[in-house]
Amino acid sequence: MGGVLGLGMAAQPPQAIHVIAGQMRPPAWPVTPAVRVNLAASGELARIMGELRPGVVIHAACVSRAADCEQQPHHADLVNIQAVEELLASAVFADSFVVYVSTEQVFDGYAERYFEDSPVSPRTVYGSTKAAAERRVLEFGGAVVRLPLLLGGAAGSGRMCADTAVVQAVQSGQTMSLFTDEIRTPVHVDFVAPMFEKIARERRGGIFHLAGAQAVSRFDLGRRACEAAGIKPNFQASLAADFDGPPRSLRLELDCGRAIKELGWQPPDLRQSLDRTFATPVRTVAKD
Ligand SMILES: NC(=O)c1ccc[n+]([C@@H]2O[C@H](COP(=O)([O-])OP(=O)(O)OC[C@H]3O[C@@H](n4cnc5c(N)ncnc54)[C@H](OP(=O)(O)O)[C@@H]3O)[C@@H](O)[C@H]2O)c1
Repeated sequence: MGGVLGLGMAAQPPQAIHVIAGQMRPPAWPVTPAVRVNLAASGELARIMGELRPGVVIHAACVSRAADCEQQPHHADLVNIQAVEELLASAVFADSFVVYVSTEQVFDGYAERYFEDSPVSPRTVYGSTKAAAERRVLEFGGAVVRLPLLLGGAAGSGRMCADTAVVQAVQSGQTMSLFTDEIRTPVHVDFVAPMFEKIARERRGGIFHLAGAQAVSRFDLGRRACEAAGIKPNFQASLAADFDGPPRSLRLELDCGRAIKELGWQPPDLRQSLDRTFATPVRTVAKD
């Protein structure tokens, strides 16, 4: 619950559903009762699932930084794949429906657009672990929800998103460079979070994409974020193709056809997402 998405969900908890949040660290957002769980500790999740027997599990936690996954692939495997296997095995006994949160990073970035039924083609350890977990969840009959680059995030949570990070960097006078050739369909976390309740309530299995309406480069996203925040953009242009780090998928445009048809998802345009970040009261979280 302490991540970007978890905090977004906790800010708008589902109505008339008893929510129990799983997390590794003490509560930062005291909306729901919470149980502590370390996904890297084998057996811990199974024990908690046996005790709680939840009707639905929305599994958002993972090692989410691509660089961490490249540097510690064994740990990424443990948390991102083995913990999902443990979750699914115990979900059978608890009769729980599993909604697995995944990512656009299961795709390689060479196609114009990725559909919910496009074959996965990960390029990084992170993407590979997420694709492996997706496969297991789908075999189990659960739901896989792929998200794009998320915007927003709670101030004080220590979890910055692409829009808030750029604005903070510019405001603090840091010089940063943004990729002009890396294209994403970003969306504010607050628009995505309520859709999970719908998927969970209706126990809809299979793959859904929940992305924003517009494809935009990181550079243009930074420029638009500064405009929305009312500050002068000040950063340099660079190329992801020249990036010295884990491989980066250049164009990740998620098509949300099934989510639009079956869930009534209305992909927000970039302006709506940025207004949500910069034109609504700042959401803060208590320090640990
Ligand atoms: N943010 C994005 O732009 C984005 C884009 C596409 C998809 N997604 C997907 O959305 C989901 C949530 O991502 P996020 O952005 O919210 O990630 P995040 O901010 O990095 O949060 C990840 C969460 O996982 C928890 N976690 C990590 N290792 C754990 C462990 N061993 N045991 C228990 N909990 C552990 C973290 O706990 P602590 O708080 O205690 O560290 C944190 O709460 C992920 O499945 C990710 O693939 C995110």
